[in-house]
Amino acid sequence: MTIVVTGGAGFIGSNFVELFADTSNEPIIVIDKLTYASSRDTLHKLKQNRQITFYEVDICDHAAITSIIERHQPVKILNFAAETHVDRSIADPSVFLRSNIEGTHCLLEASRQYFETLKRESAENFRFLQISTDEVYGSLSLDSKPFTESSRFEPNSPYAATKASADHLVRAYHKTYGLPTLTSHCSNNFGPRQSPEKLIPLAISKLLSGEQIPVYGDGKNVRDWLYVKDHCIALLAIGDHGKIGSSYNIGGGAEFSNLTLLTKLVASFQQRVVDFPSLSKTLKLGAPEESISFVQDRPGHDFRYAVDHKKISDQLDWHPKYSFDDALEQTVLWYLENIDWFRATHTDQHKAWLEYQYSSK
Ligand code: NAD
Ligand code: TYD
Repeated sequence: MTIVVTGGAGFIGSNFVELFADTSNEPIIVIDKLTYASSRDTLHKLKQNRQITFYEVDICDHAAITSIIERHQPVKILNFAAETHVDRSIADPSVFLRSNIEGTHCLLEASRQYFETLKRESAENFRFLQISTDEVYGSLSLDSKPFTESSRFEPNSPYAATKASADHLVRAYHKTYGLPTLTSHCSNNFGPRQSPEKLIPLAISKLLSGEQIPVYGDGKNVRDWLYVKDHCIALLAIGDHGKIGSSYNIGGGAEFSNLTLLTKLVASFQQRVVDFPSLSKTLKLGAPEESISFVQDRPGHDFRYAVDHKKISDQLDWHPKYSFDDALEQTVLWYLENIDWFRATHTDQHKAWLEYQYSSK
């Protein structure tokens, strides 16, 4: 019962592979192009596990994808692979169109061709799970109700527009060809191994280097934070018991403005970093407000995301298991304990991005 995980060297994909390997002995085929968002350390960890076969392949490469699927005959394909950073999509959307739309199409087409060759029992078990985002629904005001699965798609950033396009293709492949698809829409994830270009690891890396955390606009934008381990548990449930052709929202039920989130993060960091004298001896630990600086806002910055996860709770009995404060503390600890992982992500490509993104703000 082999599974294929695309984007398995990235943040959520690698956490999913870790959870799957902890709960099953079945083979895991990881396909990843190894963009800047993957890390050498994550890849090294994957390669050490004999349950995992790794392919450095672009999901847009139809011949390679077809041959991997034919060779390994998976029962499930989970598509995590994508360009994921909203700010990068604003700077240059083209790679987002290619990986997120063409790449998803290529996987769907290879899956359809494979699905049509399957005998009845294998065809009944086969699932294609598209990992999408709540950002396809657009932005909420403070008094609106959280997104449900029937909220209209109103993507605002180029990233969200490419994810929405991919979701439509997934739906079309189910409706037109009968491919057994499922789609999940999750809120903002946090946890180990996230690219240091995203808010939480970026903030920790700034705190470690004694620099201020850049906060876009007035910092009042709200996100619904989901611990990556809770997200991966939800994906296991959707893959095993989700209703074919449907979508599920996954949210953490932990809504905070960016300023509130960062206040909590700075407090947790200051409490924990003192246990790491090699990291803390040169740091000056001031009040939380001294740790941030307000910078120019992101163009088209969505004000609020919030996810109603009643459907997955009612139908699949999934609820966030970890408390937000505990998960945040575990996350801070992970980055402090894995400082080498953190350092390995400071590639020239990452430094060039930081220089581009923040020098003019
Ligand atoms: P990530 O950027 O950390 O990792 C993405 C991985 O995909 C990387 O390892 C990268 O090398 C790989 N990849 C990119 N383009 C590829 C291509 N063309 N072919 C093969 N591999 C490719 O992303 P993440 O945060 O782990 O997100 C995983 C999925 O979850 C994405 O589809 C994203 O849209 C979705 N999602 C993420 C969040 C979040 O908060 N991180 C929230 C909602 C949805
Ligand atoms: P991010 O981690 O990029 O996720 P997304 O844009 O997909 O929600 O950003 C989370 C929030 O943090 C978002 O409101 C933008 C804000 N933000 C900052 O204020 N400063 C930063 O340097 C970054 C990267 C994000």
